[in-house]
Amino acid sequence: MDEEGALTAAARELSARLLASDPNRLRHVTRVAAQAARYAPTVDPRRRDALIAAAWLHDIGYVPALRDTGFHPVDGARYLRAQGWPDEVCALVAHHSGARYIAAERGIDEVLRDFTFVEDEVTDALTLADQTSGPTGHAVMDLEDRMRDMLDRHGPDSPHHRAHPRRAPYFRAVRERVARRLDTGGPGAPNPV
Ligand SMILES: [Fe+2]
Repeated sequence: MDEEGALTAAARELSARLLASDPNRLRHVTRVAAQAARYAPTVDPRRRDALIAAAWLHDIGYVPALRDTGFHPVDGARYLRAQGWPDEVCALVAHHSGARYIAAERGIDEVLRDFTFVEDEVTDALTLADQTSGPTGHAVMDLEDRMRDMLDRHGPDSPHHRAHPRRAPYFRAVRERVARRLDTGGPGAPNPV
């Protein structure tokens, strides 16, 4: 994006305030926002502001004061909805990075139902931005390295491990779709068959 949109500016400010005491996570979301801006050409220009705003906000649900269900995508989205953020941003946060796969493993699918699930070029761009940004934001990571790192951090008994056989193919398909849209110059590019 050439110019920062109004949602992005507000999201950046809110994220920096909420994550001030968690510098690693703040660096991570800063990296995710930069990656989302890199993938912004793959989405409709009218939705780029919401994409990058959601990138800044996607992990605020980890903030202890916002804890509600204990599932960070939903806790962040509920907070944003209560604060009057647009439905599009709330839904992107609730469903980022295949949250539905983890929710299914945890048996808490119902908490996601309050937020519209879509799978489109914007959810793809946000998910790939998150999955190519290191957990402490120091580096852009290859998707496969990021998934390995995630499995190591969460351990073999985690919902992340159990969800991995279904979530990993989704992440790889997202990577292919975003790469294709970048190559072919925009959101109109067809999905791989
Ligand atoms: Fe993240």
